[in-house]
Amino acid sequence: MDSGQVKRMTTRIIGTGSYVPEQIVTNDDLAAIVETNDEWIRSRTGIGQRRIATVESTSYMAARAAERALENSGVKAEEIDLILLATSSPDFCFPNGACEVQGLLGAVNAACFDISAACTGFVYALNTAHAFISSGMYRTALVIGADVLSKLIDWTDRSTCVLFGDGAGAAVVRADETGIIASNMHSEGSKGSVLTCGSRTNGNFLLGKKPELGYMTMDGQEVFKFAVKRVPQCITEVLEAGGISPEAVDHFAVHQANYRIIESIAKRLKVSIDRFPVNMEHYGNTSGASVPILLDEMNRGGLLKPGDKVVLSGFGAGLTWGALLLEW
Ligand code: COA
Repeated sequence: MDSGQVKRMTTRIIGTGSYVPEQIVTNDDLAAIVETNDEWIRSRTGIGQRRIATVESTSYMAARAAERALENSGVKAEEIDLILLATSSPDFCFPNGACEVQGLLGAVNAACFDISAACTGFVYALNTAHAFISSGMYRTALVIGADVLSKLIDWTDRSTCVLFGDGAGAAVVRADETGIIASNMHSEGSKGSVLTCGSRTNGNFLLGKKPELGYMTMDGQEVFKFAVKRVPQCITEVLEAGGISPEAVDHFAVHQANYRIIESIAKRLKVSIDRFPVNMEHYGNTSGASVPILLDEMNRGGLLKPGDKVVLSGFGAGLTWGALLLEW
């Protein structure tokens, strides 16, 4: 066989889905519990409201989003070889959330594990699925980002509680000749203290204490500076690897933390802000769910046409950040 004729397989997104909790919490609702107001939140972040889980768990939302992605792709649950759930707020330490999703979907043939990379989680999980698929180990994977950060937030801390919301997004991916063109993942553990959640305090009988889970803490300005520096860098890197200029990209689906961060990224890349779809006004920062919820809205809204060049990028605690360039 002429080896020049053999096309290398990559990973293609063939279906998307999302789920957000029923309960809407507006900026005015938050102004009733902390010293804040709608104008401050909107002007600093672009967020108008968020969904907060009251009865929905992380795995439940992940499974609902996954069901919709399976339906959208036409793939049956039994065809899934791998389920990756990106989450920082799983329902349990074990079993992992991906296994719970497997049980809810009946995806009996899948290997399942969670990925912890905070708001970069979906980008990390998609990269991981891509590595398994490119190696030939698996053919079809379900990649999910789901978080219920509302259970980890200090609702008396106005500097964090106004920013986040709950939700889930999913993508079915499969080996194909077109799809992911280039990707990267980055981490900087020495800067981890700027965005943390969970206590390091052990609880055991020697200490006479029960284990306690700490709330989220954040140095907002440091996170802001990190995001506007690192996201343009990793997007530039992925575009260079794919041999594509920023102007040739049709859509940039970037983590929905803050509208001002997205404006700054667009400016640094010298690309019109119109190429950056946004939805943080409705959902706030849904952490690992933010990129796949946005992608699902773009897909179902008819924004994505076959052949479109799309960049996905996330950033968050770790610190972690990364990007993927793909052809839709
Ligand atoms: N409502 C009203 N005032 C608030 C407030 C709120 N919800 N939160 C903070 N403030 C106050 C501060 O106390 C401060 O008051 P002071 O000047 O009297 O001390 C003032 O607003 C300015 O605070 P500052 O932190 O300088 O605001 P900022 O312009 O940096 O905006 C963030 C704060 C959090 C919106 C911004 O830093 C940010 O978006 N950072 C990135 C956060 C992020 O995206 N995290 C998740 C990443 S995955």
